Amino acid sequence: MKPPPRTRDDSARRNRARLERLVDAASAARTRAYAPYSRYSVGAAIETASGKVFAGCNVENASYGACLCAERSAIAQMVAAGESSPVACAVVTGGRSPGAPCGICRQVLSEFAEDLPVVLVAEGPRGQARRNTTLASLLPLAFRLESRPRRK
Ligand code: THU
Repeated sequence: MKPPPRTRDDSARRNRARLERLVDAASAARTRAYAPYSRYSVGAAIETASGKVFAGCNVENASYGACLCAERSAIAQMVAAGESSPVACAVVTGGRSPGAPCGICRQVLSEFAEDLPVVLVAEGPRGQARRNTTLASLLPLAFRLESRPRRK
């Protein structure tokens, strides 16, 4: 028997479920953050066009300049797995209000996507706070070389 036609409600429900899966992955990665210096743990997760999810956390270093942000750590996981087309990103921090990706991470995300829905989540002691945004609004006029490398 043919499945019933999909409605707009179905697709909204599916999008919400996809987003929750992404937030869960970022939240789980956050628990593994290595942040003994700032004590500010961050988790990020990226969904790619293939439907896979790649997560990362911040990894700090005694030489502070060597600290790696969660978003770039997730991007590295994605690239190492042979993928290069992110379709959504979630970033989870602690505290009362969500933290926005730093400038370097915005630029690194923009290497792989012109635009991207980005959900920012704060998991504070008093519950969750969320902010939905997009990469294009976080980084207007992203730097690009005139001739972009061809993607896989
Ligand atoms: N951090 C991230 O992981 N992502 C960002 O976009 C901003 C900052 C990390 C880096 C460092 O380990 C800690 O947060 C405090 O700056």
